[in-house]
Amino acid sequence: MEKNWKDKISTPALILNYDIMEKNIEFMANFAKDNNIDLRPHVKTHKCPKIAQMQLKAGAIGICVARIGEAEIFAQNGIDDILIANQVVDLNQIKRLIDLNKKCLVRVCVDSEKNILDLNRIATQNGITLEVLLEVDVGLGRNGVKSGEHALELANLIKKQKGLKLVGLQGYEGHLISVKDSEMRKKLTESCMNLLIGTRDLLNDNGFDINYLTASNTVTYMFSVNCKGITEIQPGTYVFNDEHHYKIVDEFEIATTVLGTISNIPGKRFYTTDVGLKAITNDNGNPIFKNFPKSKIKIMTEEHSIFRSTPNTNFKIGQKIEINPTHICTTVNLYDFFTVIKDGEIIGRWDILARGKNY
Ligand SMILES: Cc1ncc(COP(=O)(O)O)c(C=O)c1O
Repeated sequence: MEKNWKDKISTPALILNYDIMEKNIEFMANFAKDNNIDLRPHVKTHKCPKIAQMQLKAGAIGICVARIGEAEIFAQNGIDDILIANQVVDLNQIKRLIDLNKKCLVRVCVDSEKNILDLNRIATQNGITLEVLLEVDVGLGRNGVKSGEHALELANLIKKQKGLKLVGLQGYEGHLISVKDSEMRKKLTESCMNLLIGTRDLLNDNGFDINYLTASNTVTYMFSVNCKGITEIQPGTYVFNDEHHYKIVDEFEIATTVLGTISNIPGKRFYTTDVGLKAITNDNGNPIFKNFPKSKIKIMTEEHSIFRSTPNTNFKIGQKIEINPTHICTTVNLYDFFTVIKDGEIIGRWDILARGKNY
């Protein structure tokens, strides 16, 4: 009998369904086109240049990354318009950021005086003008300036720096990622975007000419595109989706699973798999079995998870089982490659080249 693709794979393995991913990429690209907004996907979700190229081909204008190490990998692989949607503060990393800007466009967000002065010093020493975005804290409480006055102060400081150019504002409403009620999410997204737009107005009333506003994610993009003034969205998770986000945005099917093998039956209806915390993360709650959502994981250790099946479901030792991650971005970072499946066949291994490049 012909072997099923699952039997050809050594587990635990990260599986990527090509067709679902392609549909997700097209959906977001078409949505952005139809709404006349720029799409700059956050590639921290897949960390894979091959997938970024698919997103660009579908219409994305560039990419976002979180770290300089990721920017280096994507730049080496032909991507020449990168926004580090985060701060680069470490002096060694600033040097690398400036070096990378000699080869392609790599913008970065700023939110403190010290960082602005450090970036300027190293940019000037290297004869570079670094394009920066001022980050506004729209409620997440992680990065960004908290008030309009502080934003204006820092914008004026940037203006005085020969090595820097202020090109836009970023606001990231990441605190809304678990708001399921869509009316509530809409209202909250709009108030976050109004903070960003209000900051732009304050700056422009004081002599700036800022038009580039970037924001949003997989669960808020549909609302921020209607906020006049937002010019770019930066969703990441949509490309694969996961169990956490699927409860909120079901327009994106889950494209990525972890394949495991049942290794033991330690008790009645209890099963051990080889998918532990080194193969799938549980920071958003325990992962869910793709075809057996009622079978629940009870214990996760480094190399194993133990789950309890429903009364009518039996599994065999050696049986392969697919698991949906609850947080795909942290799970992908555990793997060297995706095993890519199309029409029930393995079509390749795609390297996750920026995996672990968090430094
Ligand atoms: C600054 C920034 N932008 C965009 C995103 C994308 O969010 P999501 O993966 O939920 O679409 C993230 C996610 O962490 C982020 O930190």
